[in-house]
Amino acid sequence: MAFHHYHLLLLLLAILISLPSPSFSDDEAGFVYAGCSQLKYTPGSPYQFNVDSTLSSMANAAILSSYSNFTSTAASPSSPAYGLFQCRGDLSLPDCQSCVRSALSQLSALCPSAAGASLQLQGCFIRYGNESFLGQPDTTLVFKKCGPTTANNIGYDPNMLSMREAALSQLQGGSPVSTYRAGAAGNFQAMSQCVGDLSTKECSDCVGVAMGQLRSSCAFAVSGDVYLGKCYARYWSYGDYGHKSSGGGGGGGDDASKNWAIVIGITAGVILLIVFLSFIRKSASGGKK
Ligand SMILES: *[C@@H]1O[C@H](CO)[C@@H](O)[C@H](O)[C@H]1NC(C)=O
Ligand SMILES: *[C@@H]1O[C@H](CO)[C@@H](O)[C@H](O)[C@H]1NC(C)=O
Repeated sequence: MAFHHYHLLLLLLAILISLPSPSFSDDEAGFVYAGCSQLKYTPGSPYQFNVDSTLSSMANAAILSSYSNFTSTAASPSSPAYGLFQCRGDLSLPDCQSCVRSALSQLSALCPSAAGASLQLQGCFIRYGNESFLGQPDTTLVFKKCGPTTANNIGYDPNMLSMREAALSQLQGGSPVSTYRAGAAGNFQAMSQCVGDLSTKECSDCVGVAMGQLRSSCAFAVSGDVYLGKCYARYWSYGDYGHKSSGGGGGGGDDASKNWAIVIGITAGVILLIVFLSFIRKSASGGKK
């Protein structure tokens, strides 16, 4: 009898362990875009040394804060390297660091020896270069993606448009305290993220430009992403409007399977506990006999 319980316990443990980890997921590591300068630095130059030092500072600092900037002049003050990273505001610091490290390794593969480069993953943004971009607003369009139009192809749907507008409008106004904001209305969710070197007003202005582009470029789309130089805004939908939403920011079709995994995990945990308790009680009463 005891052996049987032990067996079941191992089986349940195996199920629990094999469940997908709810922390740092493919979602945060998802690739959005990368840009590399055409110009390359000279291998072994002081500038390369400064870049390497900036990038390794980034890898280490992301556990301490979700935004940081760096200026490295260690090798040569005449060829400084500037860098920054920004994690999405809803990530924990360990997830932020995982994301930044993943971004750094992808960047070195995608932009070898580039004098300047930037890379955006779902969960974080990194950038470095030889000119200081720190503290400078930048609303240049870098990347844009619109989802398909409404699932039933009715095109103009006032209900959909008003839900999206209600979700988007929560990204601005009020009392912004964070570089990250999220909004939700009906079947729509929205989020925005600024790079931490912008002032509150600059951030709000930048998000406003991104929202304008979402409204004009992704007019009837079920999802949209607009990435500008120093901020981005996105929205996505599910249910009636979601074909297959683009996910990210905690939304999207992946959530359903994640939720299932959690339900299965909790059920397995409860069964495990019951089996364990009955095992303890049996062996305790067995000991008394
Ligand atoms: C950065 O690099 C580019 C290309 O080599 C160069 O034209 C520019 O002057 C550099 N800027 C600084 C501040 O060194
Ligand atoms: C850059 O980082 C320093 C701290 O290391 C901070 O005091 C400064 O405000 C940051 N600059 C910008 C533009 O974010």
